[in-house]
Amino acid sequence: MKAVIITKPGGADVLEIREVQTPPDPVANRVRVRVRASALNRADILQRMGRYPAPPGAPKDIPGLEFAGEVDQVGPEVRTWKPGQRVFGITGSGAHAEYVIVPGDHLVEIPENLSWENAAAVPEVFITAHDALFTQARLTIGETLLVHAAGSGVGTAASQLAKAAGARVIGTSRTPDKLEQARGFGFDETIAVGNDPLTIVNAIRELTGGHGVDVVLDLVGGAYLEANIRSLANKGRLFFVGTTSGAQGNLDIGTVMGKRLKLRGTVLRARSEEEKATATRLFARHVGPLLANGTVRPVVDKVYKLEDVARAHERIESNQNFGKVVLLVD
Ligand SMILES: NC(=O)c1ccc[n+]([C@@H]2O[C@H](COP(=O)([O-])OP(=O)(O)OC[C@H]3O[C@@H](n4cnc5c(N)ncnc54)[C@H](OP(=O)(O)O)[C@@H]3O)[C@@H](O)[C@H]2O)c1
Repeated sequence: MKAVIITKPGGADVLEIREVQTPPDPVANRVRVRVRASALNRADILQRMGRYPAPPGAPKDIPGLEFAGEVDQVGPEVRTWKPGQRVFGITGSGAHAEYVIVPGDHLVEIPENLSWENAAAVPEVFITAHDALFTQARLTIGETLLVHAAGSGVGTAASQLAKAAGARVIGTSRTPDKLEQARGFGFDETIAVGNDPLTIVNAIRELTGGHGVDVVLDLVGGAYLEANIRSLANKGRLFFVGTTSGAQGNLDIGTVMGKRLKLRGTVLRARSEEEKATATRLFARHVGPLLANGTVRPVVDKVYKLEDVARAHERIESNQNFGKVVLLVD
């Protein structure tokens, strides 16, 4: 099969398209999927740089955390899936290729209204956002959510899900154009951050009448820590999801104690097979119908051919993307 190969750690130029062994016939509960499209994630960039190795059992040199495609062949224990069904899902690595093998309970049927490239833009960001906001943070109707990097893949998924659940959603970005676009994806208010994250504190005070936000979905990390702590309401919940600005920051423990805040980190890729199956099942149950009826929709920034994977990496690394960058695997 054709696959994107990380030939050695480095820049986008280390990526090559090569012919490699197709994954063998699936055993037990495994399903082999013919990938039609796959999207990029920051983890692919880090894996390419040699800074975020694939989890055990996943291909080390083929990036790709999510896919949309057709069931090709099923293992003997699989009852749910048949060859030809349109499915999407997440995997530890290896989705930037013509075939992947995954556990059957990591797959979800693609709603009819989604094309391959739209479907490929869904799994990683919608499962991450749904799991963090609802399974973990327990965001509820009437609460206020603050999402950083409003134009990101996870950000635009989170905003739409939170809006659909009756929350008020505030987004930040360093790029004013992205804030304009974000308005169409569930954000009630937006804050232009520029180079000073503490801008957020005053803006949140004004927007919430001094109350603060109930939940922060932080996709940026270290540089926003102080602003996050200061922007949270009493008993607020802060979820660390991404560290694009670094993983270090100064924490004012006194404020955390005084406001009785909850701080929690979350990651999908390193979870056990069972935990990923649970997150996938909850996503299918709660988000599947919203995708099918158009209440929420994937945000596709640009679609590249597999052969143009280096340009796709560069688009994300330069922070130009609004939403997801997708690879077509034809
Ligand atoms: N924990 C998990 O399981 C999980 C799952 C998926 C993704 N993630 C993480 O979540 C984050 C968002 O992922 P994504 O795929 O949605 O990202 P994305 O679409 O690539 O967007 C990320 C955006 O973050 C902003 N940004 C980049 N560097 C920044 C910095 N130093 N300071 C402030 N903003 C910065 C940029 O937008 P501006 O124009 O606003 O600067 C950039 O476009 C990433 O860190 C990713 O690794 C975590």
